[in-house]
Amino acid sequence: MKEHPIGIFDSGVGGLTVANAIKQALPGESLVYFGDTAHLPYGDKSAEAIRYYSGRITEFLLSHNSKVVLVACNSASASAFDSLKIRFQDRTILIDVIDPVVDYLGRRNFRKVGIIGTKRTITSGTYEQKLRDKAPATEVVSMATPLLVPMIEEGFIFDDISNAIIRTYLSNNSLSEIEALVLGCTHYPIIKNQISRFFNFNVEVVDSGRNVSQILREILEKNNLVNDSGKVHDQFFISDYTPYFEKIARMFFDGEINLQKADIWS
Ligand code: DGL
Repeated sequence: MKEHPIGIFDSGVGGLTVANAIKQALPGESLVYFGDTAHLPYGDKSAEAIRYYSGRITEFLLSHNSKVVLVACNSASASAFDSLKIRFQDRTILIDVIDPVVDYLGRRNFRKVGIIGTKRTITSGTYEQKLRDKAPATEVVSMATPLLVPMIEEGFIFDDISNAIIRTYLSNNSLSEIEALVLGCTHYPIIKNQISRFFNFNVEVVDSGRNVSQILREILEKNNLVNDSGKVHDQFFISDYTPYFEKIARMFFDGEINLQKADIWS
């Protein structure tokens, strides 16, 4: 069991930001990644559709012996995590990307926090509900920023188009005087620097990577599942081939990736 991989999934490249953080924190672990590029973006889909996709992908990751399945997508964490727990918790350990961030915010006790994410994540109200329990004194404002995922997936990252879209969203009045901004979508860390720059580096920009890696480490240690064999083998699957996925994956994983198409939908 210890040598088995950590299963990770997202709609596309976003989960690679979490996979990358895990690789930095836990280099001895193997990863099996699934990017559901055939159904991207998840943020515009119904909760039912995302639950269906997430269930099938979890089956796929379990067929690759995942000792943990990490839902590296906020839209799926908000819509499908409870149903995945009911279906799969006796077969694997499940981790989402929302609870570790909420726990972190609960410890920090900010006065006002902004959350940006997909329409699915923001309309679900999951962050607000969880923060009401964990950080009751924190004022929370949330805003859907649906153009950011297609913008990132199309490769508009460091240019005038991306800067104009980021500026238009983040200058919304509701975000004035925030002390922290949560990147409630795993695609957004790819543009974290531009977001921090918009706030002149005066707002803490919080993404899930570090917090999720920390929880994962604790879970592996507690369950005696740390891979100490010295053998590491990462696998990357996508449901539809996109050159951009390959480019970003190579950027994060130093060109050492073996990208395979897995046709799980036919
Ligand atoms: N990266 C995902 C998230 O965290 C999904 C984005 C999308 O496909 O819309 O929500």
